[in-house]
Amino acid sequence: MTTIGIRGAFFDFIDDPWKHIGAEHEAARFHADGLLVIDDGKIVDFGLYDHLSERHRGLEITTIRDRLILPGFIDGHIHFPQTRVLGAFGQQLLPWLQVWVFPEELKYRDRDYAREAAGRFFDALLAAGTTTCQTFTTSSPVSTEELFEESERRNMRIIAGLTGIDRKAPAEMLNAPEGFYNESKRLIERYHRSGRSLYAITPRFAYGASSELLAACERLKREHPDCWVNTHISENPSEIRGVLADHGDCTDYLGVYEKYGLVGPKFSGGHGVWLSDDEFRRLSKSGGALTFCPCSNLFLGSGLFRLGRATDPQARVRLSWGTDIGGGNRFSLLHALEEGYKVGMCNNTLLDGSIDPTRQDLAEAERNKVSPYRGFWSITLGGAQGLYIDDLVGNFQPGKEADFVVLDWNGGQAAQAWHQSLVVEKEGPQTMEQVANLLFGIMMVGDDRAVDETWIMGKRLYKKG
Ligand code: GUN
Ligand code: ZN
Repeated sequence: MTTIGIRGAFFDFIDDPWKHIGAEHEAARFHADGLLVIDDGKIVDFGLYDHLSERHRGLEITTIRDRLILPGFIDGHIHFPQTRVLGAFGQQLLPWLQVWVFPEELKYRDRDYAREAAGRFFDALLAAGTTTCQTFTTSSPVSTEELFEESERRNMRIIAGLTGIDRKAPAEMLNAPEGFYNESKRLIERYHRSGRSLYAITPRFAYGASSELLAACERLKREHPDCWVNTHISENPSEIRGVLADHGDCTDYLGVYEKYGLVGPKFSGGHGVWLSDDEFRRLSKSGGALTFCPCSNLFLGSGLFRLGRATDPQARVRLSWGTDIGGGNRFSLLHALEEGYKVGMCNNTLLDGSIDPTRQDLAEAERNKVSPYRGFWSITLGGAQGLYIDDLVGNFQPGKEADFVVLDWNGGQAAQAWHQSLVVEKEGPQTMEQVANLLFGIMMVGDDRAVDETWIMGKRLYKKG
């Protein structure tokens, strides 16, 4: 057993800032000179250095200066086999899948290709400060195996699963429902809760799933209730029309997943751009979650996710945020925050009554504003809650796993440091308000060059250039 200490400026969350409108700082915690004590990869103590140092005399301490230390970022929706095809020009979801994505994913039947890609995928995540993700694989078990093997080598906590599709894709890619059931079961038995791996039963989307494939998912969930369920929902209008045509006995998209018993705690539906108010209410009641993927929703022209509706206290829906690589064009969740802020501001304009006074809803308009508190909560503790892994990661609470990111608030475009010097001079942040302003400067003016180091279970796995 090795016990180590990290000394520096720490910022994390103990609550949800959307529950503290007008006083969001109450949801956060800042120690300008803090100490994180880590034993065998887990946090055993956390607080002000002056309070803790007595209790931990003789501790081997690494001091990190002039940086902000945050819990590692959590990407709730990403596609490992799309690492190479981000930034593909000119198509909405359905043609984009056919032209760019499916041909690339077919390559992952080759073990060597999948293994190399898995290495590149985790390198990219760590350089972005992302320490946990929930990811899709492909319809080939080879890709799922190589992903879990690589995450286990790096000791990273991930949620993933074989990604089933049995219609509307090239024939070589389709899973027979029985084969999907058998392979998923084998992979669950091999990888679920092995090391830090968690398994998600993963029907790719209802648009590409027959009733038989969804019934196989239902059976898997019934037999393995501890597993997660990860899929897509209501991303694009043409997709939704296709789903309702194929599953004619369901009145809406969520209804398809409900019919097969998939919606509840540990369910994640990616995107949810076009969900009705009723679907939001049903999701809220069920404990199921959505994933907000702003970079992708804008890149593929899918639409504006109604963040202020999802955060309605009367029908609050659990949320994680995702990059959705390669529908999203950036690995960094800092970019997701940037684009999420812009989506929220567009929603704000739609709801403030200036376009259509009959649609005015000032409370919902306000909930769309992604403050630094709301933003950084969403990609740390909030994301962990959305994925039902907040007992394991998400903040610096003792008992949790010591995954964290070290941010250089001056990293970024050439004028970044001068911009940030409006908030702090050389001495670094001393108050919560200064930290919030620096973080907003990182998400809106900076970029992933702010990520200086990324640590997994108390070990540094990434250091910038
Ligand atoms: N829906 C089904 N598959 C995909 C995918 O790979 N990316 C996105 N954005 N949506 C999907
Ligand atoms: Zn996706």
